[in-house]
Amino acid sequence: MRKKLAAGNWKMNGSRAALSELTRLRASHSDTSCEILVCPPATHIVWALETVGAAPIRIGAQDCHANASGPHTGDISAAQLADAGAAYVILGHSERRADHGETDALIAEKARAAHLAGLTAIICVGETEGDRDAGETLRVIGQQLGGSLPNTATPANTVIAYEPVWAIGSGRTPTLDQIAEVHHFLRAELGRHLGPVPADGVRILYGGSVKPDNAAAIFAVPDVDGALVGGASLKAADFGQIITALSA
Ligand code: PGA
Repeated sequence: MRKKLAAGNWKMNGSRAALSELTRLRASHSDTSCEILVCPPATHIVWALETVGAAPIRIGAQDCHANASGPHTGDISAAQLADAGAAYVILGHSERRADHGETDALIAEKARAAHLAGLTAIICVGETEGDRDAGETLRVIGQQLGGSLPNTATPANTVIAYEPVWAIGSGRTPTLDQIAEVHHFLRAELGRHLGPVPADGVRILYGGSVKPDNAAAIFAVPDVDGALVGGASLKAADFGQIITALSA
């Protein structure tokens, strides 16, 4: 049985004052059947943990370095994130693939580092609009998954997020059939890489313009085990409605 996961990705947004949204979330959603995760900027992880206190809201990070330590000015290791109290780390988000030229091989190294540090890695995959128009969606996603998944991956330490690049921050989403097709494909590909029993335990999130008004329909799609939410995770009222839809 896969526990549903509502994951918020604050990206490079938020402030210490904005953590009051977590206070609101804690007040309204401390008793839900799904797992709740918020990934603020790394500078705010410790404050975020203080804010959620004993409430069952996990705090995660948005990236880590592939190495455990060393001369990498400005970078943060997985062990340091774990030391700060992070439980999860998002890896291979399309914004990092685009802004920082991250490759599948690098993402696999980062995921391995996350696993060794005791973090759960949320590995992101997703096609561009050009890929979809060219009929290349499944080929691209299959390649990203195969290349980004380290051999340390287990259902306990790995979550996959399907995030079509063209749906992120755009207000556009794939059709429910298109989401179903990709999630079914990802489950089958996980079976090839990990074996069918572990593959059945890995949670596959959908991400890209998930909002309160489309969440319930997306969560009803087979093999959708939750969402990775950007913009709508910044406001407790919106994220809370998404969590409620997932817990239904
Ligand atoms: P969005 O972002 O919900 O704002 O589209 C999703 C993401 O990038 O994780």
